[in-house]
Amino acid sequence: MSRIVYVNGRYLPYAAAAVHVEDRGFQFADAVYEVCEVKDGALIDESRHLARLERSLGAVGMGLPMTLAALRHVLGETLRRNRVRFGTLYLQVSRGAAPRDFTFPGPDVSQTVVVIARHGTPGRIAAQASIGIAVKSVPDIRWGRSDIKSVMLLPACLAKAEARAAGAREAWLVDEQGFVTEGASSNAWIVDGAGRIITHPVDHAILAGVTRATVIDVIARSGLTLIERCFTLREAFLAQEAFITSASNTVMPVVRIDDHTIGSGAPGRLSMELRRRFHEFAENGANPRRS
Ligand code: PDD
Repeated sequence: MSRIVYVNGRYLPYAAAAVHVEDRGFQFADAVYEVCEVKDGALIDESRHLARLERSLGAVGMGLPMTLAALRHVLGETLRRNRVRFGTLYLQVSRGAAPRDFTFPGPDVSQTVVVIARHGTPGRIAAQASIGIAVKSVPDIRWGRSDIKSVMLLPACLAKAEARAAGAREAWLVDEQGFVTEGASSNAWIVDGAGRIITHPVDHAILAGVTRATVIDVIARSGLTLIERCFTLREAFLAQEAFITSASNTVMPVVRIDDHTIGSGAPGRLSMELRRRFHEFAENGANPRRS
């Protein structure tokens, strides 16, 4: 079955799907995006992803390209046409295509909307989680508004490349004060010797992860202790456990940071418990968000 991509109102074969050469997403990274997990054919935490999309759009002076109901329909239809049961859904909204000019185009230019559904490999991710991943620390050289989920991802790509070259799967970004802000494409967490779960607070320095928000729900309902505060790389080296969260990995244990083994070198107990319970708390087709 050929893959189908949604582009500006049309469902097109993957090879034929394209946007304009002067799309502002291409020329200026003037675009925002979302990545949602797909599980059992349903979008996970769709409401939170759409709420964050609206926030990102608002932060760069754009609105939703269509009503929320229409957008939900397009997302569902793209999944359905591609018969994705497990994987991810990518949604990007740019300010549209116009002759190159730093100034925003007028209201006659309509936004570009692209939705791509991708089949995933849940077995491979689960196998990885059972052994954990290594991460490499790199300086956080991103702009001051990392809370906006913009497609301006070159610093993240460079960080990942550095991590991969060092045999690690993710990069942990460290600010000028020595605090770990987040991963290149994930939020960063540690568990201290007293079993307290620590992660950077939500501010302009990090993306407020949807997975992060749902993991916080799991923590609250499991009687675990959460501390939202900055932590240093040195604290991370000494942590009992560490993990990352993102829509594509949910909770993924970290067993090595640079040359430091975390805990026993195997995925931590709390990390695995959060991973196991995550989907009990996430929104899906059968479990609509109550809040
Ligand atoms: N990345 N921080 C950054 C910088 C991210 O790029 C991501 C997500 C997260 C986690 O957010 P969430 O839990 O909502 O996925 C945190 C996605 C998966 C990506 O770019 O592919």
